[in-house]
Amino acid sequence: MKRIAIYPGTFDPVTYGHIDLIKRGASLFDRFIIAVAHSYDKKPLFSVEERVEMLKTVTGTMSGVEVDDFGGLLVNYVKGQGARVIVRGLRVISDFEFEFQMALTNRNLVPDIETVFMMTNESYSYFSSRIIKETVKLGAEVDKFVPPQVMEKLKEKLR
Ligand code: COA
Repeated sequence: MKRIAIYPGTFDPVTYGHIDLIKRGASLFDRFIIAVAHSYDKKPLFSVEERVEMLKTVTGTMSGVEVDDFGGLLVNYVKGQGARVIVRGLRVISDFEFEFQMALTNRNLVPDIETVFMMTNESYSYFSSRIIKETVKLGAEVDKFVPPQVMEKLKEKLR
């Protein structure tokens, strides 16, 4: 039986923090599906198509990694893919409360789906997509945080 993991998020945009987690996560599963949430409530800067495209560009050569998008309940998407594992990254202690709520809600909805947490690499633990967008908007280069293709897209949108 194939071990399938779903790694959901908004990815607005994908950062080196996500990429580090994708590389490590993908080495543990046969299929590692990055599921880009529509997340319309978050009013993303990039459309879902743009977020998927950027992820496909930066993960293109990684074996076992797929990129998809989903709307509606995450657990329905996970079941639809025949998966039982959701992977989430933890950056700092403040992530814990929200992740705890999500994991328990998802478990209540579908008891045999497990959420597996991975620690984000310490070099990437302090930033988020929102901070990166704000920094680029104010004129800084953020090439330590995002791949060059993503930096270009950020500049096109924000400057
Ligand atoms: N390194 C650096 N930063 C990271 C990171 C990492 N490894 N992993 C996440 N982040 C950052 C992201 O950039 C993001 O920053 P931002 O808030 O400034 O944009 C932040 O952490 C949180 O991002 P993400 O992991 O994408 O979470 P999210 O809150 O946007 O998405 C969903 C959560 C989409 C998984 C969740 O809302 C969901 O499941 N939605 C579907 C609807 C549903 O089923 N709801 C009920 C579930 S309880």
